[in-house]
Amino acid sequence: MRAWQITDTFSIDSLKLNTAAAEPQPGPGQVTVRVRAVSLNFRDLLVIKGLYTKKLPLPLTICSDAAGEIAAVGAGVTRVKPGDRVCGLFMPAWIAGGCSDGAARSAQGAFAPGVLAEQILLSEEAVTPTSAHLSDAEAATLPCAAVTAWNALMQGGLKAGDTVLVQGTGGVSIFALQLARAAGARVIATTSSDEKAARLKELGAAHVINYKANPEWDEAMRKGGLGPVDQVIEIGGQGTFNRSLKAVRMGGYVALIGNRADAALGDAPNLTTALMKGVRIQGIFVGSREMFEAMNRAIALHAIRPVTDRVFAFEDAADALRYFETGAHFGKVVIAL
Ligand SMILES: NC(=O)c1ccc[n+]([C@@H]2O[C@H](COP(=O)([O-])OP(=O)(O)OC[C@H]3O[C@@H](n4cnc5c(N)ncnc54)[C@H](OP(=O)(O)O)[C@@H]3O)[C@@H](O)[C@H]2O)c1
Repeated sequence: MRAWQITDTFSIDSLKLNTAAAEPQPGPGQVTVRVRAVSLNFRDLLVIKGLYTKKLPLPLTICSDAAGEIAAVGAGVTRVKPGDRVCGLFMPAWIAGGCSDGAARSAQGAFAPGVLAEQILLSEEAVTPTSAHLSDAEAATLPCAAVTAWNALMQGGLKAGDTVLVQGTGGVSIFALQLARAAGARVIATTSSDEKAARLKELGAAHVINYKANPEWDEAMRKGGLGPVDQVIEIGGQGTFNRSLKAVRMGGYVALIGNRADAALGDAPNLTTALMKGVRIQGIFVGSREMFEAMNRAIALHAIRPVTDRVFAFEDAADALRYFETGAHFGKVVIAL
């Protein structure tokens, strides 16, 4: 079977399409999934470029998020049967409760093999059923970005009438917008593009601030009477963190998720502001199957459609990664098989 792999050199240009990868066979309690679609995450770029860590088992099949159908099941499997449409978990070993070191190391497409292959091998516990209203391309966007957004919003105690600040128009932020709106919250968004701002409003953002035109966007929010907010979905890191602290209310909540902004845009984290405002700062690392399943119920109930920006062919995976790297996308970039 075919699989896109890092073999020896860390770069998009060095990725190899292995046409003779071993086809997995399910052992007891295991399933094979015929992969139909894979979505890209910023982490995939870090892994491929060697910026995550270079101490990875090579050759490594890349990417973490797949949707498809069960191809075969091993002895004793009861949760699924051949033909069932499923998504794989980002961390196959995180089923419920808190995360563990072992669960973190099970994350696909780094220390564990990835999913950009014609078939993948998983424990029967490491798949969730795909909602009937979703295509495989849509379902493939869920395991990392959507579960992360859900976990962040839920740990913040989201309730109807709250105000949530989301940053930029990548996968996590667009899912946070959609899920927060479905829960009855008001969403304020930032973006670098007026065209993307219009699309954010179509998706239900009450207000959008262009962070390039307004580098002091927290101040623009204050002057516009838009804050303070109850929750911040913080995907910028050092480049945005202190502004997020200013934008959140006393006793509010900041979900620390990413470091997508240029760190030079911000100073060291202002711990004094954090403590004087009594802000709850919560690191987020994707989420468990239990969270994924809870999110799936909400997605089905509200008929939420993930926003897929472009779908590339499997053979064009390197082009998909180069496009994703530009940041031109809105929502998720998908590779279809
Ligand atoms: N902790 C976790 O479990 C977890 C899970 C998933 C992702 N992450 C991290 O979260 C971050 C976002 O992930 P993603 O997959 O959604 O990434 P993505 O799709 O690559 O997001 C790209 C978007 O980030 C926005 N951005 C860049 N600089 C910004 C700034 N200064 N202010 C506001 N927005 C800015 C841009 O939006 P505009 O084009 O609209 O300006 C850009 O399009 C990444 O750092 C990723 O590694 C963490």
